[in-house]
Amino acid sequence: MRELIERLAEEILSSKWTIALTGAGISVESGIPDFRSPGGLWSRFDPMEYAHIDSFRRNPRKVWEMLKEVFRLISSALPNPAHYALAELESMGLLQAVITQNVDGLHQKAGSKVVIEYHGNHDWLVCLECGWRRSAQDLKEEEMPPTCKVCGFILKPSVVFFGEPIPWEAQIRALEEARRCELMLVIGTSAVVYPAADLPRIAKSKGARVVEINREPTVLTGVISDYLIEGKAGEVLPEILKEVKKRKDG
Ligand code: OAD
Repeated sequence: MRELIERLAEEILSSKWTIALTGAGISVESGIPDFRSPGGLWSRFDPMEYAHIDSFRRNPRKVWEMLKEVFRLISSALPNPAHYALAELESMGLLQAVITQNVDGLHQKAGSKVVIEYHGNHDWLVCLECGWRRSAQDLKEEEMPPTCKVCGFILKPSVVFFGEPIPWEAQIRALEEARRCELMLVIGTSAVVYPAADLPRIAKSKGARVVEINREPTVLTGVISDYLIEGKAGEVLPEILKEVKKRKDG
């Protein structure tokens, strides 16, 4: 593992355009469970019942049972050393963008500036009936599920549900980054949800190196990624940053 960390540090220093694609695994050490690990969100809530746009339209009150829990987790979560390491790489000019599938805002809280939120965020609450929206910043637990001030319909957070399109700007920017990068770090994602899972494939097909940092092998391992650094993102990324700094300063 040490050898791979050193190898990646060298590759980060020699790459002219490096990006990261992150998933729920990067926020696990901030106390937010991922989706597909044992005990993850989808082991307790069937995604087709709780995270599909048709389910929300059919029974928004039921979906809000899960959303309530998600809001509670996210509002109290803080960035962990993995988020901070990426923010520092960016400020050193060594990381050009983070594409995240996460909706927790922790990359921005850690100081990352160029963050592409592929699956939306929890910033807004939107009415699917009339388009009215309000900020989610001041949403209180007693108000859940929040309703539209105009038509009374239950509001939906501005996160992407299954069956909904990826926000077009995020999709275009992410595609540009995947095509342009020389090095892509794929961190804490099982890479099974499309179209996000296409991004490492696109990067690879354009000649980029793809390196995974994950607690376990994924569908990309040995197929798309050049190598996997197996471990917790909150431990591995600070080690990589340390190696990068050592080489830069020395
Ligand atoms: P998953 O739960 O599918 O995958 C998380 C990955 O992170 C797994 O491979 C874990 O082994 C790994 N992992 C867990 N803890 C880790 C840690 N501390 N350090 C490193 N790796 C760790 O989550 P995503 O791939 O993000 O979309 O899921 C993709 C999408 O599926 C989500 O954005 C969400 C979900 O349904 C929508 O809801 C549209």
